[in-house]
Amino acid sequence: MDSSPRNKPKSLSTNLFFIFFLLSTNFLTFFLSSILNSSSCYLINPPGITIPTTTTASVSVSEGDSASVPSEFLAFTSGQNLPFGFNTNFDSDTIYPPVGRACTLFPDELRRYMSYKVNASCPDDELLAQKLLLKGCEPLPRRRCRAVGPSHYIEPYPLPKSLWTTPPDSSLVWTAYTCKNYTCLINRKHTQKGFDDCKDCFDLQGVEKIRWTQKKGNGGLDFSIDEVLATKKPGTIRIGLDIGGGVATFAVRMMERNITIVTTSMNLNGPFNNFIASRGVVPLYISISQRLPFFDNTLDIVHSMHVLSNWIPTTLLHFLMFDIYRVLRPGGLFWLDHFFCVGAQLEDVYVPLIESVGFNKLKWVVGRKLDRGPELREMYLSALLEKPFLDA
Ligand SMILES: *[C@@H]1O[C@H](CO)[C@@H](O)[C@H](O)[C@H]1NC(C)=O
Ligand SMILES: *[C@@H]1O[C@H](CO)[C@@H](O)[C@H](O)[C@H]1NC(C)=O
Ligand SMILES: *[C@@H]1O[C@H](CO)[C@@H](O)[C@H](O)[C@H]1NC(C)=O
Repeated sequence: MDSSPRNKPKSLSTNLFFIFFLLSTNFLTFFLSSILNSSSCYLINPPGITIPTTTTASVSVSEGDSASVPSEFLAFTSGQNLPFGFNTNFDSDTIYPPVGRACTLFPDELRRYMSYKVNASCPDDELLAQKLLLKGCEPLPRRRCRAVGPSHYIEPYPLPKSLWTTPPDSSLVWTAYTCKNYTCLINRKHTQKGFDDCKDCFDLQGVEKIRWTQKKGNGGLDFSIDEVLATKKPGTIRIGLDIGGGVATFAVRMMERNITIVTTSMNLNGPFNNFIASRGVVPLYISISQRLPFFDNTLDIVHSMHVLSNWIPTTLLHFLMFDIYRVLRPGGLFWLDHFFCVGAQLEDVYVPLIESVGFNKLKWVVGRKLDRGPELREMYLSALLEKPFLDA
């Protein structure tokens, strides 16, 4: 339990919150909140799911608090005094949580999310939480309740069996998804009409089995892991990140080579994070808007397939590419795998954007993307980029 932080008087902390709030400009929230409005294949709202509305407001809103801001949100976002006063590392005597600004742009969802019984179980509201997060309330505010868990959890299969075995259905809570079991997820590539992110990914005996294992596939766009690793001294690629890595088969393949990869994923109509963890590799639940939670010049490799593409607002993509550059160590690799866009966008927008970041090009392959028909004039770029040892 926390050691009773000496809160400032309510009125003062509330005032501080609003000052902090007013001082903020809106330009970042613009990028963050525009993600869902772009024409996206990857951020589809699952159909036919209703958000539970029966949440319990148990914390009374104290006098003077704005009616539009839930009290638990204020409790979390208000500055908290450090118990031992001024701290030279912080250069401050107060700590603020890194959420707040965009959350209050969505007062209805925020109120539903932050209205719950303190010290009790949380509502089963994963879908609501993810929508709020994707719109820009990221990271989500912490809550003082216990997240919903599966009622019949079974411990994971041991390694290495877990890497390629479908976990039991009882290992997670299915409320947020159209499918209610893994059989349904595995079969949805045959049975389901609409497009879902990574529709055939849960079938570990399907395309997942051969990804990144074959050399020179698909007009040169499919690099194999081994040909990428061969560009570096053996053993020097050890740790890295896969952005939007589906069910983390990339991390699994790398683990088989003793390389540790963390995989970011959302749970877009499927329990991606649970599935990744069940396989025995690390899922990281952050969207593409979030600053990467790694220090500068630390990772050996960053990979991303399909996700970094033209559905991302261009300015956000530019920030994101620089963030990848930041976390890579000198000589680190950025494998941009099947970036896609339409026709002239590649030359007009994306090639200059990627080149402005300052990577060396080790491999650069452009090809047609034909899966949705040639008339769409879609293009793929697969590139292997290297952070230079000396800044340009
Ligand atoms: C929750 O637990 C804390 C710590 O014991 C306590 O101070 C607080 O009053 C409790 N809140 C509610 C609403 O039960
Ligand atoms: C899986 O779910 C589908 C419907 O989503 C249901 O028809 C089927 O019986 C379930 N299968 C198992 C093994 O539970
Ligand atoms: C991975 O590490 C283990 C233990 O150090 C070693 O026995 C194995 O050969 C390594 N595998 C690869 C592919 O390097």
